[in-house]
Amino acid sequence: MKKRVGILISGRGSNMMALIEAARAPGYPAEVAVVISNRPDVPGMQRAREAGIKALVVDHKGFATREDFDTAVEAALREAGVDLVCQAGFMRIQSAAFADRWLGRQLNIHPSLLPSFRGLRPQQQALDAGVRIAGCTVHFVTAELDAGPIVAQAAVPVLPDDTAETLAERILTAEHKLYPLALQLVAAGEAVLEGGRVVLRGSVNQQDWLISPAASAGC
Ligand code: GRF
Repeated sequence: MKKRVGILISGRGSNMMALIEAARAPGYPAEVAVVISNRPDVPGMQRAREAGIKALVVDHKGFATREDFDTAVEAALREAGVDLVCQAGFMRIQSAAFADRWLGRQLNIHPSLLPSFRGLRPQQQALDAGVRIAGCTVHFVTAELDAGPIVAQAAVPVLPDDTAETLAERILTAEHKLYPLALQLVAAGEAVLEGGRVVLRGSVNQQDWLISPAASAGC
């Protein structure tokens, strides 16, 4: 049985599309049941609909509290029979209660090698810190922002002339490979949350959870 996935977005939706496309493969262990955006009229909504995926707006502006908004999102996820949630450029902080309820069943992708550079503009943070290797991380979502247990990471080089934009683009290319791999591991039960860390089970190929600069060269 394929796991049913709900994707939460707020904007462009390129990671969402990477997940939708990966999930089209017959052997993939997950299918995209619904896309939910907290903002109307973002490009991601159009892209989801064009891909034939049910796409709903739950506009955060229509709710008095964070909890009320989360309750509406939860209702939409349950209505769609969702087993796993993937945040993909979702720009809302969730209530601790929501994060706790979906613990071990909700993923996020962040464009840094966590635990470095949490929060906003991580690519600029990486440039400011002068690191030589940057990347992205797929992690389980917890109540603390960008701090949940790590499922998979991809590294890319930081080049001498990089701006935040060129670095973000290189990281994004790696994100589009990493997120489908990480979701595959979780949906197949090969990456499991245990004691606050992610345990990899079975015959997991290293290329499925760690993408090195060499592997991503030419991105
Ligand atoms: C990505 O860089 C993701 O890591 C971050 O927000 C961006 C979303 O881009 N959380 P997109 O909407 O998936 O194109």
